[in-house]
Amino acid sequence: MRVLLVGSGGREHALAWALAASPLCDELICAPGNAGIAEEARCVPVKAEDIPGIVRLAREERIDFVVVGPEAPLVAGLVDALEEAGIAAFGPRKAAAALEGSKGFTKDLCTRKAIPTAAYERFTDAAMAKAYISARGAPIVVKADGLAAGKGVVVAQSVEEAHKAVDAMMTEHVFGAAGNEVVIEDLLVGEEASYFALCDGTHAIPLGAAQDHKRVYDGDRGPNTGGMGAYSPAPVVTPDIARQTMDRIILPALQGLAEAGTPFKGVLFAGLMIGAKGPQLIEFNVRFGDPECQVLVPRLHSDLLAAFVAARDGQLKNFALRWDDRAALCVVMAAQGYPGTVRAGTKIHGVEDAKAVDDVLVFHAGTRREGDALVAAGGRVLGITALGATVAEAQARAYRAVDSIDWPEGFCRRDIGALAIARTA
Ligand code: AMP
Ligand code: GLY
Repeated sequence: MRVLLVGSGGREHALAWALAASPLCDELICAPGNAGIAEEARCVPVKAEDIPGIVRLAREERIDFVVVGPEAPLVAGLVDALEEAGIAAFGPRKAAAALEGSKGFTKDLCTRKAIPTAAYERFTDAAMAKAYISARGAPIVVKADGLAAGKGVVVAQSVEEAHKAVDAMMTEHVFGAAGNEVVIEDLLVGEEASYFALCDGTHAIPLGAAQDHKRVYDGDRGPNTGGMGAYSPAPVVTPDIARQTMDRIILPALQGLAEAGTPFKGVLFAGLMIGAKGPQLIEFNVRFGDPECQVLVPRLHSDLLAAFVAARDGQLKNFALRWDDRAALCVVMAAQGYPGTVRAGTKIHGVEDAKAVDDVLVFHAGTRREGDALVAAGGRVLGITALGATVAEAQARAYRAVDSIDWPEGFCRRDIGALAIARTA
């Protein structure tokens, strides 16, 4: 098969690493890719959001199968455009990708299918949203309905803070059209985890659980980021919690979308709050998490491309995946200033030394080549993943590899995995 992978982050490097290793894959092309992906695939400078450009590229390169990594092209209808052009593509169509594209859409599906989630209301009028907040009281959560690059959620500790969030989203339009509608919901308490399932429209098979570290600094301090590190499996997701997540959240959502005539194919990512009532849904995403993908894929022994093809073809019923029993842990190295403004073009040394540590993989996110030099080209720059018999062993290995990287303009958290290690100690 000639395979086209769409995207340019650490998630896509992990996918490229696994797809390139598939016996089914004759050639792997990536649009637009990065310096690390270029070691696994031929990179072509077409942006992931450029739908006509990606369709043209797939035609020109006689692509048999497209794998779409990020949410924006999925929500914008890339899979629809490819399939309509006769090109098989892995990922949800636009109508099903609304699970991530519209928080209100997901909440209404939860109501229809009795999926456990926070009580909520949807608003298109700022005054009505504020009146609801005043009546409901704080703490309370304000969410922009549409895609806001992970920044559209305010967990407000006071009514005043929640009112300000409504003004920012609905009146000042800080997230553009994504904030024309808001969802106001109750606060959920517990421990957060990410749960992933591979879906073919009707059936779902578990891809396992992971825990992300969203805040930028150690001890979960500082602003939210795309994710500073992750590990898998997540001890908080016991076999019983995993079963409840499949039965009460993943499968009812698939059934609800199939009933609506918009079946979901692709990776369904449930953001969970695990508390006294078991797992409750915070949100759905319609793709692998990043960095979560960088700890799930290295644990997979089965052929990822075969699994994606089976999902696209509606053939997961008798499909099984084999997993490594070991834990994987990923430490993200970011450019100083992230998640704010960062400086591009700083030189990174020592990646080969990091890769030489046993059971370590180095995935690139924002990187590019300048001659022979590897330079930073984004906020999150590298993901250092290690496998180990325990999370503690994987953590020790990952930081040994991190410490061999010489990049003064970069930083990372030093406590990735601490929660899991404390839980299992
Ligand atoms: P989201 O973009 O929906 O994943 O929200 C971002 C983050 O906000 C989540 O990872 C949670 O930490 C937090 N969050 C969102 N909704 C709630 C809620 N209802 N209760 C508590 N925390 C929430
Ligand atoms: N790491 C969280 C996400 O990919 O949405």
